[in-house]
Amino acid sequence: MTEIETLERDLSAKIDAATTEAALEELRVGALGKKGVISQQMKTLGKMSPEERKEMGPALNGLKDRVAAAIDAKKTELEDAALEARLASEQIDVTLPVRPSPKGKIHPVSQVFEEITAIFSAMGFDVAEGPDIEDDFHNFTALNFPPDHPAREIHDTFFLEPKEDGERMVLRTHTSPVQIRTMKSKKPPIRIIIPGRTFRCDSDQTHTPMFHQVEGLVIDKETHMGHLKGTLEAFVKTFFEIDDVKTRFRPHFFPFTEPSAEMDIGYERVGKEIRFGQGSDWMEILGCGMVHPNVLTNCGLDPDEYQGFAFGMGVDRLAMLKYGIPDLRDFFAADARWLEHYGFDPLDQPNLATGLSR
Ligand code: PHE
Repeated sequence: MTEIETLERDLSAKIDAATTEAALEELRVGALGKKGVISQQMKTLGKMSPEERKEMGPALNGLKDRVAAAIDAKKTELEDAALEARLASEQIDVTLPVRPSPKGKIHPVSQVFEEITAIFSAMGFDVAEGPDIEDDFHNFTALNFPPDHPAREIHDTFFLEPKEDGERMVLRTHTSPVQIRTMKSKKPPIRIIIPGRTFRCDSDQTHTPMFHQVEGLVIDKETHMGHLKGTLEAFVKTFFEIDDVKTRFRPHFFPFTEPSAEMDIGYERVGKEIRFGQGSDWMEILGCGMVHPNVLTNCGLDPDEYQGFAFGMGVDRLAMLKYGIPDLRDFFAADARWLEHYGFDPLDQPNLATGLSR
């Protein structure tokens, strides 16, 4: 075998074996570059005798052309393979169903509203709503607050500028005015919850000037305190997702209920963690009572025919307790990192079948 044949065989084998364009380029430089083996051989032609050159010239040129062609062919082959691989990796199967990738989180307040709604709708409650800006009648008078009664002050009411006739609208201090609106517009039996924003001039770690409540109202002919207790006990068990919750009803005063109570649930503090259900400490979570006869009368219902119960709970407070969020003010700071941490997956709708929270 001649020297040229050996060289050609060697180069062909290497070109065949090259797996990357970089390796191929290295081979090209090594063979055909200025200092490449073939180029070096070409330089020796000048020193040869005319006969020798006649034979070696075409041989070397042929070798050079064949090697260059082989490198080109291999280059095309590698480029094609790379493109194939890329197309395969970027392939999209359009027959697959859309894979949801939700962006953003559900705010704990919205989550708790949804959870409370899921629980009470399973018990047959409807949802009612009312305006954030209320008149004195719905927010106070119809709810049996006597005129100039200090209870109006307890609420730290935000008043709007007086209107031309002197009437001052308020930012509702509780969701109870929607009790009035509902009883005036609907015939009993009534079974509603009222989620909404409420406002009081107050701000610290557990109070913000705007906060959220869920009110409940049941009006029927034979409603009694047992129904109230049963409903609320069932509610807290489901809401806190524990079967065994200790509850306690403490006498209290609200102008619009009689008797009135506050409901506490048992808890204990283990280190920094708050455990609900048992323990020797009590935490107040809602106000409630039997609807006051004066309120029924104010709404055109006969208290000898109808009775009912009502309750109102702080949603933000429930969210803090259930999800261990220490400061209420962060709820309204619009900090995306906070929401990323405490928020909920938008596709996990709270429902009683698969669990309220996951
Ligand atoms: N409206 C009361 C409050 O905001 C709560 C409440 C509602 C109490 C219904 C009794 C009945 O404090």
